[in-house]
Amino acid sequence: MDLKIAGRTALVTGASGGLGLAIARGLAAEGVKVAVSSRSSERIEAAAETIGHGAVPLVCDMTDHKARAALVDEAASRLGPLDILVINSGGPPSGPFESHDDRRFAAALDEHLGGAVALTRSALPSMRERRWGRILTITSCMLKQPAAGMILSNVARAAVAAFVKTCANESARDGVTVNNLLPGYTLTGRIAELSGQMAETTGRSAGDVIGDWEAQIPVGRLGTPEEFAAAAAFLCSEQAAYITGISLSVDGGWNRGLF
Ligand SMILES: NC(=O)c1ccc[n+]([C@@H]2O[C@H](COP(=O)([O-])OP(=O)(O)OC[C@H]3O[C@@H](n4cnc5c(N)ncnc54)[C@H](OP(=O)(O)O)[C@@H]3O)[C@@H](O)[C@H]2O)c1
Repeated sequence: MDLKIAGRTALVTGASGGLGLAIARGLAAEGVKVAVSSRSSERIEAAAETIGHGAVPLVCDMTDHKARAALVDEAASRLGPLDILVINSGGPPSGPFESHDDRRFAAALDEHLGGAVALTRSALPSMRERRWGRILTITSCMLKQPAAGMILSNVARAAVAAFVKTCANESARDGVTVNNLLPGYTLTGRIAELSGQMAETTGRSAGDVIGDWEAQIPVGRLGTPEEFAAAAAFLCSEQAAYITGISLSVDGGWNRGLF
Protein backbone atom coordinates (compact mmCIF):
# COMPACT_ATOMS: atom_id res chain seq x y z
CA MET A 1 0.00 0.00 0.00
CA ASP A 2 1.29 3.47 -0.84
CA LEU A 3 0.95 5.39 2.43
CA LYS A 4 0.97 8.70 0.53
CA ILE A 5 3.56 10.35 2.78
CA ALA A 6 6.49 10.51 0.35
CA GLY A 7 8.14 13.94 0.65
CA ARG A 8 6.80 14.51 4.18
CA THR A 9 9.25 15.29 6.99
CA ALA A 10 9.64 13.34 10.23
CA LEU A 11 11.56 13.36 13.50
CA VAL A 12 11.94 10.08 15.38
CA THR A 13 13.51 10.28 18.84
CA GLY A 14 15.22 7.40 20.65
CA ALA A 15 16.10 6.06 17.23
CA SER A 16 19.65 4.71 17.42
CA GLY A 17 18.29 1.17 17.87
CA GLY A 18 15.26 -0.94 18.62
CA LEU A 19 11.76 0.30 17.83
CA GLY A 20 12.74 3.92 17.05
CA LEU A 21 15.28 2.83 14.45
CA ALA A 22 12.80 0.42 12.86
CA ILE A 23 10.19 3.19 12.63
CA ALA A 24 12.68 5.62 11.07
CA ARG A 25 13.65 2.94 8.54
CA GLY A 26 10.00 2.26 7.73
CA LEU A 27 9.23 5.95 7.18
CA ALA A 28 12.36 6.51 5.08
CA ALA A 29 11.37 3.54 2.89
CA GLU A 30 8.05 5.37 2.26
CA GLY A 31 9.99 8.37 0.94
CA VAL A 32 9.71 10.44 4.12
CA LYS A 33 12.64 12.80 4.89
CA VAL A 34 13.75 11.64 8.32
CA ALA A 35 15.72 13.11 11.24
CA VAL A 36 16.65 10.75 14.07
CA SER A 37 17.93 11.45 17.57
CA SER A 38 19.39 9.71 20.59
CA ARG A 39 21.82 10.46 23.44
CA SER A 40 24.94 9.34 21.62
CA SER A 41 26.38 11.03 18.54
CA GLU A 42 28.29 7.88 17.67
CA ARG A 43 25.26 5.58 17.85
CA ILE A 44 22.87 7.95 16.09
CA GLU A 45 25.30 8.68 13.26
CA ALA A 46 25.73 4.94 12.72
CA ALA A 47 21.95 4.50 12.76
CA ALA A 48 21.42 7.32 10.24
CA GLU A 49 23.88 5.61 7.95
CA THR A 50 22.00 2.33 8.08
CA ILE A 51 18.71 4.16 7.39
CA GLY A 52 20.20 5.90 4.32
CA HIS A 53 17.93 8.18 2.24
CA GLY A 54 19.78 11.22 3.69
CA ALA A 55 18.61 10.59 7.27
CA VAL A 56 19.80 13.41 9.55
CA PRO A 57 21.37 12.39 12.90
CA LEU A 58 20.77 14.69 15.90
CA VAL A 59 21.86 14.34 19.52
CA CYS A 60 19.23 14.78 22.21
CA ASP A 61 18.89 13.23 25.64
CA MET A 62 15.17 13.22 26.44
CA THR A 63 15.99 14.01 30.07
CA ASP A 64 17.78 17.24 29.05
CA HIS A 65 15.20 20.06 29.10
CA LYS A 66 17.23 22.47 27.00
CA ALA A 67 18.12 19.89 24.35
CA ARG A 68 14.56 18.57 23.98
CA ALA A 69 13.12 22.10 23.75
CA ALA A 70 15.44 22.82 20.82
CA LEU A 71 15.19 19.47 19.01
CA VAL A 72 12.14 20.04 16.79
CA ASP A 73 13.52 23.36 15.51
CA GLU A 74 16.87 21.71 14.88
CA ALA A 75 15.20 18.98 12.81
CA ALA A 76 13.02 21.52 10.98
CA SER A 77 16.05 23.64 10.10
CA ARG A 78 17.53 20.62 8.31
CA LEU A 79 14.37 19.15 6.72
CA GLY A 80 11.72 21.87 6.65
CA PRO A 81 8.69 22.13 8.97
CA LEU A 82 7.88 18.81 10.63
CA ASP A 83 4.88 16.80 9.43
CA ILE A 84 5.46 13.69 11.56
CA LEU A 85 6.76 13.47 15.12
CA VAL A 86 7.46 10.10 16.75
CA ILE A 87 8.21 10.45 20.47
CA ASN A 88 10.22 7.55 21.87
CA SER A 89 12.83 7.04 24.58
CA GLY A 90 14.37 4.29 26.70
CA GLY A 91 12.16 2.53 29.25
CA PRO A 92 12.25 3.48 32.96
CA PRO A 93 14.00 1.11 35.42
CA SER A 94 11.98 -1.93 36.53
CA GLY A 95 11.42 -2.94 40.17
CA PRO A 96 8.61 -2.87 42.74
CA PHE A 97 7.18 0.27 44.36
CA GLU A 98 9.48 0.13 47.41
CA SER A 99 12.61 0.09 45.26
CA HIS A 100 11.99 3.57 43.81
CA ASP A 101 12.25 6.81 45.77
CA ASP A 102 10.32 9.99 44.91
CA ARG A 103 13.19 11.23 42.77
CA ARG A 104 12.87 8.17 40.50
CA PHE A 105 9.12 8.68 40.07
CA ALA A 106 9.71 12.33 39.19
CA ALA A 107 12.47 11.39 36.74
CA ALA A 108 10.30 8.82 34.93
CA LEU A 109 7.46 11.33 34.59
CA ASP A 110 9.83 14.05 33.51
CA GLU A 111 11.46 11.96 30.79
CA HIS A 112 8.28 10.45 29.38
CA LEU A 113 5.47 12.93 30.01
CA GLY A 114 7.77 15.98 30.10
CA GLY A 115 9.53 14.86 26.92
CA ALA A 116 6.24 14.35 25.08
CA VAL A 117 4.98 17.75 26.26
CA ALA A 118 8.17 19.57 25.22
CA LEU A 119 8.35 18.05 21.74
CA THR A 120 4.63 18.45 21.09
CA ARG A 121 4.79 22.07 22.25
CA SER A 122 7.45 22.75 19.61
CA ALA A 123 5.89 20.78 16.74
CA LEU A 124 2.13 21.16 17.09
CA PRO A 125 1.58 24.89 16.27
CA SER A 126 3.16 24.59 12.82
CA MET A 127 1.27 21.34 12.10
CA ARG A 128 -2.03 22.99 13.04
CA GLU A 129 -1.23 26.04 10.97
CA ARG A 130 -0.40 23.87 7.94
CA ARG A 131 -3.43 21.68 8.68
CA TRP A 132 -1.60 18.36 8.53
CA GLY A 133 0.33 16.49 11.17
CA ARG A 134 0.94 13.11 12.77
CA ILE A 135 2.15 12.77 16.35
CA LEU A 136 2.84 9.33 17.71
CA THR A 137 4.05 8.39 21.18
CA ILE A 138 5.64 5.01 21.89
CA THR A 139 4.73 3.69 25.33
CA SER A 140 3.98 0.09 26.36
CA CYS A 141 1.38 -2.70 26.27
CA MET A 142 1.46 -2.48 30.07
CA LEU A 143 -0.53 0.74 29.81
CA LYS A 144 -3.63 -1.45 29.39
CA GLN A 145 -2.52 -4.33 31.60
CA PRO A 146 -0.06 -2.99 34.20
CA ALA A 147 2.34 -5.70 35.37
CA ALA A 148 3.94 -5.94 38.81
CA GLY A 149 7.54 -4.78 38.93
CA MET A 150 7.03 -2.13 36.23
CA ILE A 151 5.52 0.66 38.33
CA LEU A 152 7.59 3.54 36.95
CA SER A 153 6.78 2.56 33.38
CA ASN A 154 3.10 1.92 34.16
CA VAL A 155 2.62 5.32 35.81
CA ALA A 156 4.54 7.34 33.22
CA ARG A 157 2.82 5.62 30.25
CA ALA A 158 -0.63 6.33 31.71
CA ALA A 159 0.23 10.03 31.95
CA VAL A 160 1.42 10.06 28.33
CA ALA A 161 -1.78 8.32 27.16
CA ALA A 162 -3.92 10.99 28.87
CA PHE A 163 -1.81 13.71 27.26
CA VAL A 164 -2.19 12.09 23.82
CA LYS A 165 -5.96 11.70 24.10
CA THR A 166 -6.44 15.33 25.13
CA CYS A 167 -4.14 16.74 22.44
CA ALA A 168 -5.91 14.56 19.86
CA ASN A 169 -9.29 16.03 20.81
CA GLU A 170 -7.95 19.57 20.74
CA SER A 171 -6.16 19.41 17.38
CA ALA A 172 -8.34 17.02 15.35
CA ARG A 173 -10.11 19.77 13.41
CA ASP A 174 -6.78 21.07 12.16
CA GLY A 175 -5.85 17.82 10.41
CA VAL A 176 -3.43 16.70 13.12
CA THR A 177 -3.79 13.20 14.56
CA VAL A 178 -2.20 12.25 17.88
CA ASN A 179 -1.94 8.57 18.75
CA ASN A 180 -0.15 6.25 21.13
CA LEU A 181 1.40 2.95 20.06
CA LEU A 182 1.91 0.20 22.65
CA PRO A 183 4.65 -2.33 22.01
CA GLY A 184 4.30 -5.79 23.48
CA TYR A 185 7.37 -7.99 24.00
CA THR A 186 9.47 -7.14 20.96
CA LEU A 187 12.97 -8.30 20.09
CA THR A 188 15.16 -5.27 20.94
CA GLY A 189 17.85 -4.25 23.42
CA ARG A 190 15.10 -3.45 25.97
CA ILE A 191 14.13 -7.14 26.06
CA ALA A 192 17.75 -8.13 26.69
CA GLU A 193 17.91 -5.54 29.50
CA LEU A 194 14.64 -6.60 31.18
CA SER A 195 15.22 -10.35 30.84
CA GLY A 196 18.73 -9.86 32.29
CA GLN A 197 17.33 -7.91 35.28
CA MET A 198 14.61 -10.54 35.87
CA ALA A 199 17.17 -13.35 35.59
CA GLU A 200 19.29 -11.68 38.27
CA THR A 201 16.41 -11.23 40.70
CA THR A 202 14.89 -14.70 40.18
CA GLY A 203 18.07 -16.77 39.74
CA ARG A 204 16.82 -18.14 36.40
CA SER A 205 18.41 -17.79 32.97
CA ALA A 206 17.47 -14.91 30.66
CA GLY A 207 16.41 -17.54 28.09
CA ASP A 208 13.94 -19.06 30.58
CA VAL A 209 12.54 -15.61 31.39
CA ILE A 210 11.96 -14.97 27.67
CA GLY A 211 10.38 -18.44 27.34
CA ASP A 212 7.87 -17.51 30.07
CA TRP A 213 6.99 -14.30 28.21
CA GLU A 214 6.49 -16.20 24.95
CA ALA A 215 4.14 -18.60 26.73
CA GLN A 216 1.93 -15.62 27.71
CA ILE A 217 1.62 -14.37 24.11
CA PRO A 218 -1.21 -15.94 22.09
CA VAL A 219 0.83 -15.63 18.88
CA GLY A 220 3.48 -17.73 20.67
CA ARG A 221 6.54 -15.58 20.00
CA LEU A 222 8.07 -12.18 20.58
CA GLY A 223 7.32 -9.49 17.99
CA THR A 224 9.84 -8.02 15.59
CA PRO A 225 10.69 -4.30 15.40
CA GLU A 226 9.60 -4.37 11.75
CA GLU A 227 6.09 -5.58 12.67
CA PHE A 228 5.83 -2.73 15.15
CA ALA A 229 7.20 -0.19 12.66
CA ALA A 230 4.59 -1.19 10.06
CA ALA A 231 1.80 -0.18 12.49
CA ALA A 232 3.62 3.09 13.23
CA ALA A 233 4.00 3.93 9.54
CA PHE A 234 0.30 3.28 8.96
CA LEU A 235 -0.70 5.63 11.80
CA CYS A 236 1.51 8.28 10.15
CA SER A 237 -0.08 7.74 6.74
CA GLU A 238 -2.58 9.80 4.80
CA GLN A 239 -5.03 6.89 5.03
CA ALA A 240 -4.99 7.08 8.86
CA ALA A 241 -6.48 10.60 8.88
CA TYR A 242 -9.62 9.36 10.71
CA ILE A 243 -7.71 7.54 13.47
CA THR A 244 -6.87 9.81 16.38
CA GLY A 245 -6.63 9.62 20.16
CA ILE A 246 -6.13 5.85 20.27
CA SER A 247 -3.72 3.69 22.23
CA LEU A 248 -3.05 0.76 19.90
CA SER A 249 -1.41 -2.45 21.15
CA VAL A 250 1.00 -4.31 18.88
CA ASP A 251 1.50 -7.24 21.23
CA GLY A 252 0.61 -10.56 19.60
CA GLY A 253 -2.56 -10.67 21.71
CA TRP A 254 -0.75 -10.35 25.07
CA ASN A 255 -3.35 -7.97 26.54
CA ARG A 256 -6.26 -10.17 27.67
CA GLY A 257 -8.71 -7.28 28.13
CA LEU A 258 -11.33 -6.12 25.68
CA PHE A 259 -9.67 -2.75 25.00
N1 LIG B 1 10.94 -3.87 23.22
C1 LIG B 1 9.93 -4.17 23.98
O1 LIG B 1 9.60 -5.35 24.16
C2 LIG B 1 9.12 -3.10 24.65
C3 LIG B 1 7.93 -3.47 25.29
C4 LIG B 1 7.17 -2.48 25.92
C5 LIG B 1 7.60 -1.16 25.90
N2 LIG B 1 8.77 -0.85 25.26
C6 LIG B 1 9.18 0.56 25.30
O2 LIG B 1 9.33 1.08 23.99
C7 LIG B 1 10.38 2.06 23.98
C8 LIG B 1 11.43 1.68 22.96
O3 LIG B 1 11.85 0.38 23.28
P1 LIG B 1 13.05 -0.39 22.56
O4 LIG B 1 12.75 -1.81 22.77
O5 LIG B 1 13.29 0.12 21.20
O6 LIG B 1 14.25 0.05 23.52
P2 LIG B 1 15.83 -0.01 23.25
O7 LIG B 1 16.15 -1.12 22.30
O8 LIG B 1 16.42 -0.01 24.61
O9 LIG B 1 16.13 1.37 22.50
C9 LIG B 1 15.91 2.57 23.15
C10 LIG B 1 16.31 3.71 22.25
O10 LIG B 1 16.08 4.92 22.96
C11 LIG B 1 17.29 5.65 23.07
N3 LIG B 1 17.30 6.27 24.39
C12 LIG B 1 17.36 5.67 25.60
N4 LIG B 1 17.33 6.59 26.57
C13 LIG B 1 17.24 7.81 25.96
C14 LIG B 1 17.18 9.14 26.42
N5 LIG B 1 17.22 9.45 27.72
N6 LIG B 1 17.10 10.13 25.50
C15 LIG B 1 17.08 9.86 24.18
N7 LIG B 1 17.14 8.62 23.68
C16 LIG B 1 17.21 7.60 24.57
C17 LIG B 1 18.41 4.67 22.85
O11 LIG B 1 19.51 5.30 22.20
P3 LIG B 1 20.85 5.84 22.91
O12 LIG B 1 21.27 4.80 23.89
O13 LIG B 1 21.76 6.00 21.75
O14 LIG B 1 20.45 7.14 23.55
C18 LIG B 1 17.76 3.70 21.86
O15 LIG B 1 17.87 4.19 20.55
C19 LIG B 1 10.92 2.10 25.42
O16 LIG B 1 10.31 3.14 26.14
C20 LIG B 1 10.53 0.74 25.97
O17 LIG B 1 10.43 0.72 27.38
C21 LIG B 1 9.53 -1.77 24.63
